[in-house]
Amino acid sequence: MLTLVATYRRTIHASLERIWENVRDWEHLPWLHRAFFSQITLLEETSTSWRARVVMPPVTAPREALVEVEMDQPQARYWSRTLTEQGVGGEILTKLTPVKERETHIVVEFRGLVANPQHAEQLGAMYLRLYEQLWDEDERMMMRRQGLIDAGRIGSEAKPKKNNRTSELTQQP
Ligand SMILES: [Fe+2]
Repeated sequence: MLTLVATYRRTIHASLERIWENVRDWEHLPWLHRAFFSQITLLEETSTSWRARVVMPPVTAPREALVEVEMDQPQARYWSRTLTEQGVGGEILTKLTPVKERETHIVVEFRGLVANPQHAEQLGAMYLRLYEQLWDEDERMMMRRQGLIDAGRIGSEAKPKKNNRTSELTQQP
């Protein structure tokens, strides 16, 4: 049975639209979140979900996992599930609440298989550190993307084109 091990709350400076784009965009994992993902291979994609095999660093001892993202856009929430080679699964539920046009509050619940309260605490702390950095990177990218859309330099299509991202979005402001 999965246990709630931590909850992360934060206000993100991006619209709901930018966040959904980011959640759908499985391709950005290895280039934006390089510290955590070194490769991604899409296995399946639907209008409300995607599933991929990811490789995680270090290169000297890479680890593989399956990642599955399931979106419930009407209810403004999505689940990320991970299955590692060791069969350890985790489930992360993110709930989105728009605060302003370009501000969205997030509540992220981390659930995992834990052996005891100490393990739950360690796993929870690991998730909080990991998600702080992932959302820092995502927020920076979404703000940059919003700036480019506002300036009329790129469109706001649901799936950003790869060349837009590599040429524009990987540059630090
Ligand atoms: Fe991301």
